[in-house]
Amino acid sequence: MSALGRLRVSFCRTAWFHRPKQPTWTSIARLALNTSRYNNNSARGGVVLTSERYPSLQRGDYTAVTDKHIAFFEGLLPGRVISDVRDLDGYNTDWLKTCRGASQLLLRPKTTEEVSQILRYCNENQLAVVPQGGNTGLVGGSVPVFDEIIISTQLMNKVFSVDEISGTLVCQSGCILGNLETLINEHDLTMPLDLGAKGSCHIGGNLATNAGGIRLLRFGSLHGNVLGLEAVLPNGDVLDSLTTLRKDNTGYDVKQMFIGSEGTLGIITAVSILCAQKPSSVNVAFVGCEDFPTVLKVLQRSKENLAEILSAFEFIDRQCMALTERNLNLTNPITDNKFYALIETSGSNPNHDEEKLNHFLETLMEDGIVRDGTLATETSKVQAIWGLRERLAEALMHDGYCYKYDVSLPLSHFYELVEVMRERLGDKAVSVVGYGHVGDCNLHFNATTREFDEEVMGLIEPFIYDWVAEHKGSISAEHGLGFKKKDFIYHSKSKAAVQLMKDMKRLLDPNGILNPYKTLPTD
Ligand code: FAD
Ligand code: MLT
Ligand code: ZN
Repeated sequence: MSALGRLRVSFCRTAWFHRPKQPTWTSIARLALNTSRYNNNSARGGVVLTSERYPSLQRGDYTAVTDKHIAFFEGLLPGRVISDVRDLDGYNTDWLKTCRGASQLLLRPKTTEEVSQILRYCNENQLAVVPQGGNTGLVGGSVPVFDEIIISTQLMNKVFSVDEISGTLVCQSGCILGNLETLINEHDLTMPLDLGAKGSCHIGGNLATNAGGIRLLRFGSLHGNVLGLEAVLPNGDVLDSLTTLRKDNTGYDVKQMFIGSEGTLGIITAVSILCAQKPSSVNVAFVGCEDFPTVLKVLQRSKENLAEILSAFEFIDRQCMALTERNLNLTNPITDNKFYALIETSGSNPNHDEEKLNHFLETLMEDGIVRDGTLATETSKVQAIWGLRERLAEALMHDGYCYKYDVSLPLSHFYELVEVMRERLGDKAVSVVGYGHVGDCNLHFNATTREFDEEVMGLIEPFIYDWVAEHKGSISAEHGLGFKKKDFIYHSKSKAAVQLMKDMKRLLDPNGILNPYKTLPTD
């Protein structure tokens, strides 16, 4: 029995929640997600073309790229135009390897002015384009469906300013989230968002998807943290809304329209974002729960008892944890639980925070709510526990094909969806799992098969969307609609709201060149 195994059966409060004496953590090693191997240049062969998987899809009435167009772009972006299809595979294929376009052209601008000239030319020539950041999107929004030109923000990675007192960061949209975090940490600041794809995703992509992630519980959504942005509209006009003011009630807040617009209304070229003070103390508790209602009880207790220092609350079910151990060979420090809750605290006073967390965990144990857990206060151990959570998307991919759903549900029905789907899929799926940002009512439901299976897909969709709508949830909590989910928008939005979205799209992009086939429904 491992040291942690011995600890978990012990109900001695001092021992139970104390840091493990044995170096179990060294076997877990450093688990921070390395998404670099999913970067655009990695080979992604073998993925079926989207146009083949969905044969009823119609290519829009767009101009096909010719040598004349390529010559124009080469003049504008010398050395930054890629038209060799062998170099384009990674950019044509999404992270999940479920969507693949056939673009023949990738453009890599460095400045807003270049983006403006590209879009003006594309608009005049009826050339369709897809904006792409780190290509970590999970709904097929970042890759072409047919032969759209890919406009990558990879080279738009300048940081303009960091203001330590106001906490404002202003940078180009192609800055990688993880790099920004490292940079601003040196100024004692921290980003208001964090997610498993931080090693690859761009801040512009984060805004375009209104990414949630593991800090939303603490800092709220990007709609509150983005102070300003600059975007290039489909006709090439530049919308300069790059203010750094916290308060500005002069008319409509137009930047909000671009946050979560998934590259369909404009290309975000620069961002101004509010960063928080970097916490000097971060602790993580990882506890086992015997059923889902217990997870909710722990959540409620965390809010009550940890209050201002509670910074994240995530859950993972047993099946998902088993899959992670199997596929990534990771070590779970507290085995044999039906559910796991990850509770993070962040604050400014290590003694105060640790004392508060210890007391909280002791009362959980005394009240018989949980009986198994571990506490990490050292950075490497905190990261190791987070690694278990952040690598779940990667672990699922090792099974073969992943059917990924990202829903909001009232907590009263939250985990029921996983149980219903497990029953429905039976042994047709390799894994049927649930995890996610339970503190934000956001469930990640995933199923896997060895390869794409139409029967399994038919059992999941549209059933899952109907179920979520019936239970007053949202079919997309954070990943967006992209290509895969756009036709289910009415499950979560009224006709009037969708009509307004369509009107906005028509106003800004009358020729429909910007990220066609995405977000808005086909009808
Ligand atoms: P891309 O994937 O390149 O693009 C996403 C969408 O934004 C596309 O529609 C694209 O056209 C558009 N876009 C990109 N850049 C721009 C721009 N500059 N202007 C206009 N449109 C643009 N999401 C969450 O919300 N929470 C999570 O916790 C989370 N965890 C993840 C973990 C992993 C391992 C992975 C692979 C993905 C995760 N995601 C998560 C999904 C994904 O939305 C985020 O990774 C991220 O926000 C996408 O950024 P990106 O730069 O990769 O954008
Ligand atoms: C996460 O929270 O891990 C991400 O949203 C990715 C996923 O849903 O798998
Ligand atoms: Zn998530």
